[in-house]
Amino acid sequence: MQIKTTLDKIGEAAHIFWQNIDGKIFAVEGDMGAGKTTFITALCHAKGVKSPVSSPTFSLINEYSYIENGVTHPIYHIDLYRVKDEQEAINAGIEDCLYSGNICFVEWPQKAPHLLPENTVHIYIEASGENTRLLKIDFHR
Ligand SMILES: Nc1ncnc2c1ncn2[C@@H]1O[C@H](COP(=O)(O)OP(=O)(O)OP(=O)(O)O)[C@@H](O)[C@H]1O
Ligand SMILES: [Mg+2]
Repeated sequence: MQIKTTLDKIGEAAHIFWQNIDGKIFAVEGDMGAGKTTFITALCHAKGVKSPVSSPTFSLINEYSYIENGVTHPIYHIDLYRVKDEQEAINAGIEDCLYSGNICFVEWPQKAPHLLPENTVHIYIEASGENTRLLKIDFHR
């Protein structure tokens, strides 16, 4: 599936995404500045996250929460950009997030490819014009 979106339509793109994609673990790839954090922010807000969503580049893992059917669920937002190798990602506790059964977004998943569960949904983001981004979902290379 592919979604093309501008920044002002990203909320709509996020709703279309959740209507069509079933999954818990999302590996979000794209060049530096492609819009990974921006799209993850839109996906979190579409789920009902009220707290600010921001890049966990320094903290490695951010945790947000949303309420669904009266139950509070966590969402984990992981950014592996600063991680040296898989061992460092393991030490940071990312497996606990990935296998918790909760929604996880992973920026720079290429840093720890073997840690991703088999049912990971891949999202590739690329610039498709000055103000647009193309989101390719589950396109295996
Ligand atoms: N759909 C879009 N259309 C136009 N501009 C966008 C879109 N999405 C994001 N941008 C812009 O592109 C920039 C990229 O921001 P963002 O931090 O989301 O990238 P990133 O891929 O997470 O970067 P990093 O690799 O540093 O984590 C922002 O300035 C944002 O406003
Ligand atoms: Mg980012």
